[in-house]
Amino acid sequence: MAPFHIDDGTGSDTTGDGSIEKPYQSLGLAVLNHGTTASFLIRKDANSTYEEPTQSSLKKAKKTADGLEKKRKKAEELAEREAKEKGEEKEKRDKLWEESKKIVLKEDASLPAAVRAKITGLADLRSKRVRVFGWIHRLRQQKDLIFIVLRDGTGYLQSVLSGELTRSYDALTLNVESSVELVGTLQPVPEGKIAPGGHELVVDFWRLLGVSPGGDDAFTNKLNEQSDPSIMADLRHLVLRGETASSVLRLRSFMLSAFRQSLTSHNIIEVTPPCLVQTQVEGGATLFKLDYYGQPAFLTQSSQLYLETCLPSLGDVFCVQESFRAENSHTRRHLSEYTHLEAELAFITFDDLMTHIENVICETVDILLANPVSAALIKQLNPDFVAPSRPFIRLPYVDAIKWLNEHKIQHPAEDAEGNVIKDEGGNPKMVDHAVGDDIAEAAERQMTDIIGKPVFLHGFPAELKAFYMKKIRDGSGKTTFTESCDLLMPNVGEIVGGSMRIADMDELLEGYKREGIDASPYYWFTDQRKYGTCEHGGYGLGVERFLAWLANRYTVRECSLYPRWPGRATP
Ligand code: 4AD
Repeated sequence: MAPFHIDDGTGSDTTGDGSIEKPYQSLGLAVLNHGTTASFLIRKDANSTYEEPTQSSLKKAKKTADGLEKKRKKAEELAEREAKEKGEEKEKRDKLWEESKKIVLKEDASLPAAVRAKITGLADLRSKRVRVFGWIHRLRQQKDLIFIVLRDGTGYLQSVLSGELTRSYDALTLNVESSVELVGTLQPVPEGKIAPGGHELVVDFWRLLGVSPGGDDAFTNKLNEQSDPSIMADLRHLVLRGETASSVLRLRSFMLSAFRQSLTSHNIIEVTPPCLVQTQVEGGATLFKLDYYGQPAFLTQSSQLYLETCLPSLGDVFCVQESFRAENSHTRRHLSEYTHLEAELAFITFDDLMTHIENVICETVDILLANPVSAALIKQLNPDFVAPSRPFIRLPYVDAIKWLNEHKIQHPAEDAEGNVIKDEGGNPKMVDHAVGDDIAEAAERQMTDIIGKPVFLHGFPAELKAFYMKKIRDGSGKTTFTESCDLLMPNVGEIVGGSMRIADMDELLEGYKREGIDASPYYWFTDQRKYGTCEHGGYGLGVERFLAWLANRYTVRECSLYPRWPGRATP
């Protein structure tokens, strides 16, 4: 019989067959495959010659072969056993499935009638039979038991299914996010165990209303905490079902109600100005333009001008309206569309205005903390939240510039065209702030974070501000400041921008001119100065920014239902 070849260097125990072309790599395997009676030729590597193996190496190889043989047998046995078990399991499963299809669950008519309720209202229905509808938030299946955490938007309910209820076809194929109807008795959870609301629904009848897929399309496969931000944005409609996202939006709803409650308690009434407009408020650079039946029009940047026209008619007014900004800002506090809470007050002073803003904000926070549901949401999202103390710091713009320089907070130098000047290393050349500078977001953020409390920054230079702002006349002929204020909050920065408005007709006409605005489309706004002008002022509060502060969110994008930012208008 021809000898079998082994090449220690280039042979292979997986593809080799012992031929001279395809040698084995180990003598052990060659012995295992062909027995000790076969003849072998072995070499170290391709440069040596084939020789017969020594007796001692043959002995060693025999031992190795025995070990390998044992291993091989064991693996075979295991595979056999597994295959059998699998077959049995499959049989069992198939039987279960077959039987499951025959199970038709029926509600027991002899039981007390179930009271239909939302999860939030269940505390009063302990030990009663209740009927709830919702989505499966969490699902755990155990032998003969199914644990469900049901979600209906008002809360979460731990529920347990047992016996026959767990053996129906729908029970065997149940997935998270399926919609279901659960009927059963509400029982307090045993001491030492916790469940939302402190109770658990012991289900006696249930129905699947809408399936949710398993496999690749399963909800849990589409989304998880590590999902890429752009996937999260595409799947915002599913993200909203999560505990954090829904809590933020729930808090947003309470927050808007609280604002309305505070504002109306000051006799300020709500109006709804238009979003389609033909005038700008905050500068042409951030206008979304559109074709309006052949005429140019814009999406509103602010409802302020309309609110001003309401003063002689309705008195003090506010609105909660979408504002649009076409700025190419990808920061964590900018949206292309945001909810703008704006108010306008007549016959006030600048000091009144800042006091009013402070009151509304503090009252809103107090209302939210006094309501156990919203207080719990704040605790969940922002455990360290404490209501801000009053009065808020009032920091004149000129003092803020000094403060920034004292704290060595600089800003990148710019040339006349607004390009950042670089140093020899290619880094932006940093310079001190000077009166007249627009305090950039980074510096403003550093300042608010160091101060750590709400700060009214006020009295900005006129050239940095919009055409409508009332000027402070200092008689020096130098930089003219305005009666304007920004409210800055730690972690977020500016959440409110407000000012006194120009009440005088000529000053307003000058303002249009300074900003290069054609006054004619503004005739209705100018008319306010013609028909009984008054000292007045107002402000706009970014709802998402306020919420980001309150709920300690990293970005305003988390605080909007379907956020829009440059390049994103879906879903
Ligand atoms: O400072 P702004 O531009 O002021 C106005 O629009 C005034 N006309 C409001 C008024 O006096 N009635 O904007 C006011 C607030 C800002 O403080 C900020 O909270 C928010 O609106 N805001 C934005 N929020 C999210 N994304 C953006 N792109 C925002 N731009 C402004």
